[in-house]
Amino acid sequence: MNEIKNKFKTSIAGFQLHNYLFNASGPRCMTLEELIALGESRSSVILSKSCTLLPREGNPEPRYFDLPLGSINSMGLPNLGYKKYVEFAPLLRRYNKPYFVSVSGLSLADNITMISELSEVPEIDAFELNLSCPNVIGKPQIGYDFEQTKQVLDEVMKITKKPFGVKLPPYFDFVHFEEMAKILNKHNIAFVTCINSIGNGLFVDADTEKAVIKPKGGFGGLGGEYVKPTALANVKKFYELLRKDIAIIGVGGIASGMDAFEFLLCGASAVQIATAYQKEGTAVFARIEKEFIEFLEKKEYNSLSEAKGKLKIYE
Ligand code: DHB
Repeated sequence: MNEIKNKFKTSIAGFQLHNYLFNASGPRCMTLEELIALGESRSSVILSKSCTLLPREGNPEPRYFDLPLGSINSMGLPNLGYKKYVEFAPLLRRYNKPYFVSVSGLSLADNITMISELSEVPEIDAFELNLSCPNVIGKPQIGYDFEQTKQVLDEVMKITKKPFGVKLPPYFDFVHFEEMAKILNKHNIAFVTCINSIGNGLFVDADTEKAVIKPKGGFGGLGGEYVKPTALANVKKFYELLRKDIAIIGVGGIASGMDAFEFLLCGASAVQIATAYQKEGTAVFARIEKEFIEFLEKKEYNSLSEAKGKLKIYE
């Protein structure tokens, strides 16, 4: 990949990115057409939908609903199965940006099978191991089970030389942040993505007196504006607690350049866009990039590092 000349460039897992933002593993990144559209957009990475060993249809519809301040979803991991994301890898090379594959096995054995095989593919640059899908019926989020998280990471370390990161659920208690950070600091992780959707919210339509999505009795992951303060808190706390060589990728409620700047102040090395990407399509990346650069220039910053992690707090 060419060297990038841009005063606001960043890097993740050793890859230089042409800007601060890319898609979240979530909406519009499942099919080859969607991944190509990301390649053609200003998203600085192409990140796939979380894959499983076998293709999945996902949960019954309606399973995504736009809300006034965000979204609720219970997609249930619809994806084409990991072999397709291997097949797509050489086709995405021409966009001259990293291709990351999100992996969300339904068991440790599935994760090991997928990661072993994906590790052999030269055109796959890194993994994001999803420890936080809230929507598979009967499967708890691994990231809330510290013992299981440790076991998964111990095993993954042994089988891949590719850089990888983990996508975490939101935490709400300082003891949990500390416990998770202690585990992550002991592993050779390149990045941490936080947060996944806030799991198992319930949105009620008072007119119809009905939940707005069908799976799981209407319970689903919240995204968008509702979750931004929780996402910022998670980024900030992990920035304080993690080794400095572990990059933090912020996600949760970013819909403007100013939102992205708030994540930069909290220590994020890059941000991902989910709900706003679902709502606006690929044009969202160029819009937020432009707003972000204009905001930084207005404040007379010359690099991201001048603002990164520099959130002021009361003495
Ligand atoms: C799904 C939702 C998530 O929050 C996630 O991390 C992975 C998959 C889903 O329901 O498809």
